[in-house]
Amino acid sequence: IRVLSVASEMFPFVKTGGLGDVVASLPEALSNYGIEVRTLLPGYPAVLSAMNETARRIPFLPEILGHQAAIWSCTAGENELLILDIPELYDRSGNPYLGPDGSDWADNGIRFAGLARAAAFIGQGFIEGYHPDIIQAHDWQAGLTAAYIHYDGESVCRTHGMSGRPKVVQTIHNLAFHGSFPAEHRSLFGLPDAAMSIDGCEFYGNISFLKAGLFFCDWITTVSPTYAHEIQGAEWGMGLDGLLRSRADCVSGILNGIDTSIWNPARDPVVRFPYMTGDVISRLSNKLNFQSEFGLPQDRNAFLVGVVSRLTRQKGIDLLPEIMDRLLRFNTQIVVVGEGDRAIHRILSGLQRKFPRRFACHLGYSEELGHRMQASVDALLIPSRFEPCGLTQLCALRYGAVPVASRVGGLADTIVDANEAAVSRGVATGFLFSPVDPASLVAATERARALFREDREAWMALQRNGAMTDVSWRGKAGQYVRLFAKLSGVEIVDQS
Ligand code: ADP
Ligand code: GLC
Repeated sequence: IRVLSVASEMFPFVKTGGLGDVVASLPEALSNYGIEVRTLLPGYPAVLSAMNETARRIPFLPEILGHQAAIWSCTAGENELLILDIPELYDRSGNPYLGPDGSDWADNGIRFAGLARAAAFIGQGFIEGYHPDIIQAHDWQAGLTAAYIHYDGESVCRTHGMSGRPKVVQTIHNLAFHGSFPAEHRSLFGLPDAAMSIDGCEFYGNISFLKAGLFFCDWITTVSPTYAHEIQGAEWGMGLDGLLRSRADCVSGILNGIDTSIWNPARDPVVRFPYMTGDVISRLSNKLNFQSEFGLPQDRNAFLVGVVSRLTRQKGIDLLPEIMDRLLRFNTQIVVVGEGDRAIHRILSGLQRKFPRRFACHLGYSEELGHRMQASVDALLIPSRFEPCGLTQLCALRYGAVPVASRVGGLADTIVDANEAAVSRGVATGFLFSPVDPASLVAATERARALFREDREAWMALQRNGAMTDVSWRGKAGQYVRLFAKLSGVEIVDQS
């Protein structure tokens, strides 16, 4: 089975969140099942820099929505890349979606319509000898792919020697971002009149890339079973719940995994004192080191709580200020590594001035600090209002940081709450709370802190249970394989 994965980011070249991690790590996991994945990315400078001696220009391609384009093929580590090189659209450094002033690039519509248009051409056999069976379109940036394939019709594929069109899987990493653009851009995006209908790309008078993907794709996946369920309801459906309900028989939730060769505390190059997964005693040296890195008192008995997150409303970090003095009681220290809304930056800086020996933050993006935090803190706080999957709790489990998280989406699916039954059966891995409000957040933190302070053995059992949780791609990739096989009519021998 050949899969063309289409995405707007991929670690380590460009990453603004978990999407970049997943796009980078899923292909290798699939390759263990004999699935061939090639990933189509926009040619941002950081992506073009991945080109090495394997890079070759692919003779190909009609114009992409009026732009001259080149496609480069190369191998980067374990990944096979196809790079869409259109300098006037993608030759911009920094954040892939935002200009230097922090607002969206004005031409994001054409930038990502272009990506989807190229994906559709490739899926239709425009690269000689390459006929993908499946296109996996990630989030709104790849959403128009299914629409182009639909409107072009199957005959285009036949003229390139394909027996039929590829099947499109639209993967939702975050339903909150729709990719919505004015209806007047329809012809710029190369869409027919018919696209401006409810049975098309139209969403409340605009063109919605994600809606188009969800409407025209053959299957919808999202990144956890609970989120798959939540988005079919009005509260978290972001206006698309009706459409999702109408397609409920082709929606599935498949949990993300993490790359356990990158997230391995024994071999992590930025962890000061490497330790084997589950060795919660050796891990302590990292805690002391991290405390001093952030100017906090070095104290192994302090309850050290970390947050590593985008600072947006989704992540619930705005709940912290009003309860900070309660969270910081009983020798608790809190460290935040995060970047996002400027208002939250200002509030966190204020907290740092108010509680200099208890609260510290790094306001920016630092992959290194993210890793060191996971290797150091006692608990990782994740108070998300919604969370499609979440990767930080998976890293935390593996590194021995106990997650304290809201009971939503993928957090609910991957953390076993330390209630009495789970603790006595030896399966608890963290603390879950609901509803997502300040009182429940305080209560969960107090619950965690009490266990840490009063029963260190039980606390370490949680850490060890977490370390034994399988957070890798192993089983999850198998679910994609079964789905891809079903869609492309390939029979597989199921060994699971
Ligand atoms: P989302 O994709 O919604 O941001 P995830 O939990 O799926 O949430 O993935 C976030 C990823 O980005 C994790 O790998 C996390 O460690 C990382 N991350 C987020 N913010 C920062 C930051 N400020 N510095 C370093 N890493 C960060
Ligand atoms: C999104 C979601 C996050 C998920 C990630 C990767 O950014 O917010 O929950 O883990 O995508 O799928």
